[in-house]
Amino acid sequence: MLLGTQRVNERGHLEIGGCDVVDLARRFGTPLYIMDEAAIRENCRRYREAFGSRYPGVKVAYASKAFLCTAMAKIVEQEGLWMDVASGGELYTARVAAFPAERLVFHGNNKSEGELQEALDYGVGRIVVDSMEELERLSRLATDAGKTADILLRCTPGIDPHTHRRIRTGQEDTKFGLGVKSGAALKAIQRARELPGIHFRGVHCHIGSQLLNADTHLEAIEIMAGFLRTIRDETGQTVEEMNIGGGLGIRYLPEHRPPSIEEFAEALTGEVKRRCEEYGVDLPQLGLEPGRSLVGECGTTVYEIGVIKDVPIAEEPGRRLYVSIDGGMSDNPRPQLYDAVYHCLLANRAGEVDSTVVTIAGKHCETDLMIQDTKIPMPQAGDLLAVQSTGAYNQSMASNYNRLTRPPVVLVSGGHADLIVERETYADLVAQDRIPERLKAEAREPVAV
Ligand code: LLP
Repeated sequence: MLLGTQRVNERGHLEIGGCDVVDLARRFGTPLYIMDEAAIRENCRRYREAFGSRYPGVKVAYASKAFLCTAMAKIVEQEGLWMDVASGGELYTARVAAFPAERLVFHGNNKSEGELQEALDYGVGRIVVDSMEELERLSRLATDAGKTADILLRCTPGIDPHTHRRIRTGQEDTKFGLGVKSGAALKAIQRARELPGIHFRGVHCHIGSQLLNADTHLEAIEIMAGFLRTIRDETGQTVEEMNIGGGLGIRYLPEHRPPSIEEFAEALTGEVKRRCEEYGVDLPQLGLEPGRSLVGECGTTVYEIGVIKDVPIAEEPGRRLYVSIDGGMSDNPRPQLYDAVYHCLLANRAGEVDSTVVTIAGKHCETDLMIQDTKIPMPQAGDLLAVQSTGAYNQSMASNYNRLTRPPVVLVSGGHADLIVERETYADLVAQDRIPERLKAEAREPVAV
């Protein structure tokens, strides 16, 4: 499986964005996150064109939780997309990159007063209100600041997408949003229309992530279009915007077949038009918030292989080859959290036949298996392992577990490679640590042994 601009070059090495991955590993060290700029930009354009050519009034917002740094915010801005931020920290990053405030969508089920204030100060384009409490609080803060907040109301359509239980959000039993079926969402809209400092612009829903067909999105659209009619009938208000979140899946394995962005656009825009006509409501502007499907396949992580252990086991085939890499669950926690699967290849021997079944293990002090029973050429210590489709929810979810330093991110394009996130140093690891006076050696009686 080769993704984006990946190819195998004359030296038999994996190449991304015109850069030889073996050279990148030598120059920047391992583990290393590599982001394929041309592939990211192409996905941004495909989203805009696929939806824009099929539907009047589309806003595509990149869900920055998937991967964010200031350079990424610049790319999103240049491609003309909106951006979804879901915390004060993501908002701050957008601000530092001078991302246009009016193209920001601010999310969160428990935004603090400080975060709401920051969003109002910067003048974000949309605040997605997630609860009654937040609605009242935002009204007060906006009124005090002499501002009006443009809001969408996060709704739960009450459907259950078939994806990992930890990345499901559309069902009734969720911490997110307000229920359509229970009437809670309608009540909040009625309240939003009365409150000062609030301009109700529309509704929002996000049903889940890594969805490999559009079925649940279509179900959500039917429910939301019906809700647009209820809103109109009950309040007289025509809803300007309907945002249906993100969720489109990607290829983690060669056999994964998610819909293309164009197929996804065709299915969704067709359904919105059909259902709005059926329910007799005006077509709202359509909002989307892709995260994974914009950047997931555009990222590759490169590790160096170290210890290889041939372990006898009771089950067939009687042995397991554990191949340890110099990273693990700190740079990619997804296998541990969601039983996520990945595909890998040897970056320095990319042209060779996959002959050996191996289990890729991380270097943490627990059983952090990254890929189980995958086939690669018989590996040796010093080989470079490239794990594909790591562009979303890897770097953004990385930790310092076992006090590993977080890897750098390099952006590659047209044979150029630029560091966009530096590797953390040991000094970074202790930069926030403080030793209270009373623990300092001078101030302490030695413990008798
Ligand atoms: N909009 C909202 C409101 C969201 O909560 C999310 C993702 C998205 C958009 C983008 O969804 P996407 O297009 O990426 O599926 N850490 C998990 C994924 C959590 C997704 C959370 N929300 C993972 O690694 O699989």
